[in-house]
Amino acid sequence: MSDILLHTDAGVMTLTFNRLDKKNSITRDMYAALADGIEQARNDAQVRVVLVQGNETIFSAGNDIGDFLNHPPSTPDSPVFRFLRAIATLDKPLIAAVAGPAVGIGTTLLFHCDLVYAGDNAAFSMPFVNLGLCPEAASSLLAPRMFGYHRAAEALLLGEPFFAEAAQEVGLVNRVLPPTEVNGYAQAQARKLAAKPLSSLIETKRLMKAGQQAEVLTHLATEAQSFGRMLKEPAAREAFGAFVEKRKPDFSRL
Ligand code: COA
Repeated sequence: MSDILLHTDAGVMTLTFNRLDKKNSITRDMYAALADGIEQARNDAQVRVVLVQGNETIFSAGNDIGDFLNHPPSTPDSPVFRFLRAIATLDKPLIAAVAGPAVGIGTTLLFHCDLVYAGDNAAFSMPFVNLGLCPEAASSLLAPRMFGYHRAAEALLLGEPFFAEAAQEVGLVNRVLPPTEVNGYAQAQARKLAAKPLSSLIETKRLMKAGQQAEVLTHLATEAQSFGRMLKEPAAREAFGAFVEKRKPDFSRL
């Protein structure tokens, strides 16, 4: 079984994280499969809407930490950056169904979705500072814009989880549902969209995003440079070493 399941039905391409034993943490191969899936969706006239989902217990634990440390993304065509550009520029509607933890990119990818549905067990977090890193996926641009600066600063500087109701309040989530209903509800919403004229969906999305599209792409690239540099620095080494050794990191001299 693949770690990313791809299924298309009734105009909806559904991409499902399927690596439950590792909490749907995302490897390079998974980023490549996601990026390829989104590109396929862009080019396939049969696909009108894309839905990304986990299961009712976990959306995604973010980057696979081991894979990430052993093979840090170094060039713009690295799978993670291909995936981020793909979701930032997808012309068709993109929906996410989130239940359980959504860590790091599990949360930041949501800034690029058009609709987000969450289980009441959803826990969103962007713990980049706690990992000695900086934000990615243009979240340092889009979180302040969506949440307001102070709420974004709380989420990005403290890096603590925030939950479904708070996520709905700040505008990250459209609707909160029982965890077992999230994927089904999101699928139904996706099918509703898929029955509408695609040309109108695409033009409406383009007009809503037009004001910030170029800025988002520039910001993605700027963050990626900082992220890549910081990944090699002592704070990240300490944080990831602590994760692997299952101990608390010591940042007292960093
Ligand atoms: N990368 C690699 N492996 C991960 C992972 C990640 N991001 N997140 C979880 N896993 C693995 C664990 O190492 C563990 O593997 P093991 O069974 O071989 O020991 C397995 O998934 C289960 O994780 P566990 O922490 O026991 O599950 P949990 O239900 O107690 O907690 C999370 C779930 C998502 C809250 C927790 O795993 C977590 O915080 N993960 C780290 C997330 C993170 O920092 N991501 C940002 C990366 S930039």
